[in-house]
Amino acid sequence: MGRALITGASRGLGREFARQLAGRGHDVVLVARSAQALEELAAELSDTGVEAEILVADLAEPGDLERVAARLADDRSPVGLLVNNAGFGLGTGFTESEWADEQAALAVMVTAVARLSHAAARAMTPRGRGAILNVSSIAATLANSTYAAHKRWVVDFTQALAGELRGTGVTATVVMPGFVRTSFHDSEELRHMRDDYPAFTWLEAERVVADALRGVRRRDVVVVPSVGYRALAVAIGLVPGPLRRRALSGRRGLAESDR
Ligand SMILES: NC(=O)c1ccc[n+]([C@@H]2O[C@H](COP(=O)([O-])OP(=O)(O)OC[C@H]3O[C@@H](n4cnc5c(N)ncnc54)[C@H](OP(=O)(O)O)[C@@H]3O)[C@@H](O)[C@H]2O)c1
Repeated sequence: MGRALITGASRGLGREFARQLAGRGHDVVLVARSAQALEELAAELSDTGVEAEILVADLAEPGDLERVAARLADDRSPVGLLVNNAGFGLGTGFTESEWADEQAALAVMVTAVARLSHAAARAMTPRGRGAILNVSSIAATLANSTYAAHKRWVVDFTQALAGELRGTGVTATVVMPGFVRTSFHDSEELRHMRDDYPAFTWLEAERVVADALRGVRRRDVVVVPSVGYRALAVAIGLVPGPLRRRALSGRRGLAESDR
């Protein structure tokens, strides 16, 4: 895989992706808005002997997004693995949220995933190798919020991309985690989630990232970490649409918080 570019690397799953990839000897390009957190992580990883580059970028800003896309297109120090990980939950219903927040969510979790996958796939296919890993959510199975819709798009997009890339040497994988203990639920709107759901429903970032990277190595297209969440995904699929909608209506915060 060579060098990996990870979005949302300043904390949570992204930081764990960077640590595990560096642990396997991969150089990394770390992308997020928090410059100080990226600098601290780059220093930590450089001490282990890998090259750690930082790209401070707000993926909701078109100019910043293009800088990241340009880095993926740069063949002088090629990126062999793109991890589209940056994301966030608003924790409010669509009609309650500010449009600017909805736009940012769409930009970071849909537009940026498409733009960076495009740049990466175009750079990787002539080389005949490379991998794209997109971070979705088990919420993609719920169809009850814009967050769930964005994450559903990530699943469908990645499956289509994997099909298109077949035979090129480049792969596309999507990971659909359930609840993970990260700073995702730090906001006032989402904090209550930590107490609302029992400990056994929460996964550790180390495990989710290890499963996702194993999936990439095995060229899997869809990865759902943990047996429990795999069973849940199947069970949700078996519930008829009208019943599922009725059960979830009025619980709009559900998928926003990855419940
Ligand atoms: N935690 C869960 O329960 C869970 C479950 C399923 C899926 N996920 C998904 O996993 C991914 C990572 O989430 P996490 O749990 O690690 O959350 P987190 O700890 O809150 O980390 C989110 C990361 O995204 C970055 N980010 C957010 N907005 C950005 C922007 N505009 N531009 C650039 N970077 C931005 C943040 O960096 P800066 O703030 O520094 O920019 C941060 O590094 C997300 O896609 C999330 O939807 C999480």
